[in-house]
Amino acid sequence: MKAAEQIMSDKKQKISKVKNASWGGRFSEQTDAFVEAFTASVQFDQRMYKQDIAGSRAHAKMLNKIAVLSDTDLDTILKGLDKVETEIETGQFEWSVALEDVHMNIEARLTALVGDAGKRLHTGRSRNDQVATDIRLYLREQIAYIINEIERLQQGILDVAEREAETIMPGFTHLQVAQPVTFGHHLMAWYEMLKRDASRFDDGSQRMNISPLGAAALAGTSYPIDRAFTARELGFSAPSQNSLDSVSDRDFAIEFCSSAAILLVHMSRMSEELVIWSSAQFDFIELPDRFCTGSSIMPQKKNPDVPELVRGKTGRINGNLISLLTLMKSQPLAYNKDNQEDKEPLFDTVDTVLGCLRAFADMVPAIHCKHDNMYNAAKQGFSTATDLADYLVRKSLPFRDAHEVVGNAVAKGVKEGKDLSELTLEELQQFSDKIEGDVFDVLTLEGSVASRDHTGGTAPVQVRKAVAIARKA
Ligand code: ARG
Repeated sequence: MKAAEQIMSDKKQKISKVKNASWGGRFSEQTDAFVEAFTASVQFDQRMYKQDIAGSRAHAKMLNKIAVLSDTDLDTILKGLDKVETEIETGQFEWSVALEDVHMNIEARLTALVGDAGKRLHTGRSRNDQVATDIRLYLREQIAYIINEIERLQQGILDVAEREAETIMPGFTHLQVAQPVTFGHHLMAWYEMLKRDASRFDDGSQRMNISPLGAAALAGTSYPIDRAFTARELGFSAPSQNSLDSVSDRDFAIEFCSSAAILLVHMSRMSEELVIWSSAQFDFIELPDRFCTGSSIMPQKKNPDVPELVRGKTGRINGNLISLLTLMKSQPLAYNKDNQEDKEPLFDTVDTVLGCLRAFADMVPAIHCKHDNMYNAAKQGFSTATDLADYLVRKSLPFRDAHEVVGNAVAKGVKEGKDLSELTLEELQQFSDKIEGDVFDVLTLEGSVASRDHTGGTAPVQVRKAVAIARKA
């Protein structure tokens, strides 16, 4: 064979080996095997197959409505898509890295099944608006699961808060005993954090519920498409208003990851408290054995692994947020391949958040309180000192003077190793003649918590009220 012929035949061979029929037309050599794997996303974006098929159904129906697709073609495509979906769900579908992503895998299989009608499906759309649609649909569904799971955790918190509305424990500032609080009140603080978290997810979900379909590659399409129709078909609230923006921005994914990061930061704080409370030094609570593990070397150990792990997972969730922010930073309009990198941090966030919520929602209702230890801890550290000061103010001492009087009483208590409530009336009266027998009503832990009887206060009555309001909501 002559050299020229050799080259021609090599070239022919290469052309015939171009595997990607979707865009192979202008290429004269086959994609490098490594590059093919490097640029593929099908390994992870196949989890959006349902959304991709739903998007194709809506798009095909719209093309038929505007008479770009015949009734027969539409029927063939819809039947074909059903078949593809069944194949995927029964594990018969063969995903191919050579076909790059979920969109081209499904389209190629559809075409293999139904022929030319399958090839007509991609009229007036692009993978760019397709992927932007798929992610929104996927995230919208996952957010609903996440909100459900947050609500299940909140439900558990409410049950424990109600049960422990009267349980007294020390409240802390600077992790130093500050004032007595009820455990129910403490848990209701968690409830409030989660309430805002759920509303953040919901808020983001509504903002992202806009259909990018029809933006096509970046500029729209020359077909007389009906974007309101596809938006409605897919349950979006409206079509998006700018095609360039629709295919390029991933702010909705960033927003989701930011809501997730705030949620996990909250959960890491709850975790930290569970870890501290279940330590031998605090010994306020016991976590059920099924949520703990032992040590392979120290037989006595029972480790609070679940809260520790949730605390740790906050790191990757924060990391995922930073990944997406950095991914988006400085990207020029419109679509760039960079955006393919949005999926792994996003999916990891979904999985991690759902896992953490599930573990917490299962675990929290099973927290066992050690009431005596909590109570005794609240008795240490002069937690009712503020109550004594308030008492003196009610007896018309200016607050700054009252503060001074109590400071002196505390100093005596420290010296003698006694709580304020353990000093005698005579001893207390040394510091102020305003102190009378009724002082002990406020120096007791029960008196202290009961007196904080207003909206948002720690009194058991208020905790029960807060629980009741939350249950109604
Ligand atoms: N797999 C791609 C992604 O996840 C789909 C869009 C690709 N579009 C393109 N023109 N290369 O973003």
